[in-house]
Amino acid sequence: MRYVNNKNRTHPRHLHLINDSPRVTNMDRPAIRKMSEQDLLEVMSIEQESFPNPWSLSSFQSELRENELAHYYSLVFQGKVIGYMGYWVIYDEAHITNLAIGLEYRSKGWGEYLLRTIMYHCVRTGIARMTLEVRVSNEIALRLYHKLGFATMGVRPRYYSDNQEDALIMWVTL
Ligand SMILES: CC(C)(COP(=O)(O)OP(=O)(O)OC[C@H]1O[C@@H](n2cnc3c(N)ncnc32)[C@H](O)[C@@H]1OP(=O)(O)O)[C@@H](O)C(=O)NCCC(=O)NCCS
Repeated sequence: MRYVNNKNRTHPRHLHLINDSPRVTNMDRPAIRKMSEQDLLEVMSIEQESFPNPWSLSSFQSELRENELAHYYSLVFQGKVIGYMGYWVIYDEAHITNLAIGLEYRSKGWGEYLLRTIMYHCVRTGIARMTLEVRVSNEIALRLYHKLGFATMGVRPRYYSDNQEDALIMWVTL
């Protein structure tokens, strides 16, 4: 596969909520901003509590410094990184590489907020579809993805090296 260099795309530092709830004000709503290397200490802490095989610090650094296909965003609440998400842009597709919300901030709607906002941003920047891989056992993530319109289109058998678990390949047309 040949990768497209999308360095001409521009990305705003802040994205905006599309499904604004009247119950949520700017004061108590997290901001979404481009991930910087200063965020990585907090990102690593969330990464380690979120995944059995967490990415290393150098993986995140290389994504931010060297990968021109990569787009990473931090979800920030009261000055603290509480979640993040990343994807690669390949042709008109966004391949989600990572998504996590800090343990104490889960099940409050922020994962959905972050993913929905990025999906909207992708629509605005010409992305036609999005894809991701998810563990077959990750019921919470699967519910989120189904809720936002993702459908299972394939399986990668024994994709995860820690327990040989299968990955579901999901796609959504934007
Ligand atoms: C998956 C993850 C990002 C979801 O973020 P979140 O902020 O906890 O989820 P939200 O509160 O936005 O909930 C969105 C939907 O997810 C599902 N969900 C969230 N928490 C749930 C729970 N405790 N039980 C069942 N479903 C749940 C629901 O479908 C929910 O929609 P609903 O509230 O209308 O029912 C988060 O749980 C996480 O970081 N998990 C660990 C890392 C991970 O698995 N990442 C995905 C890798 S593919």
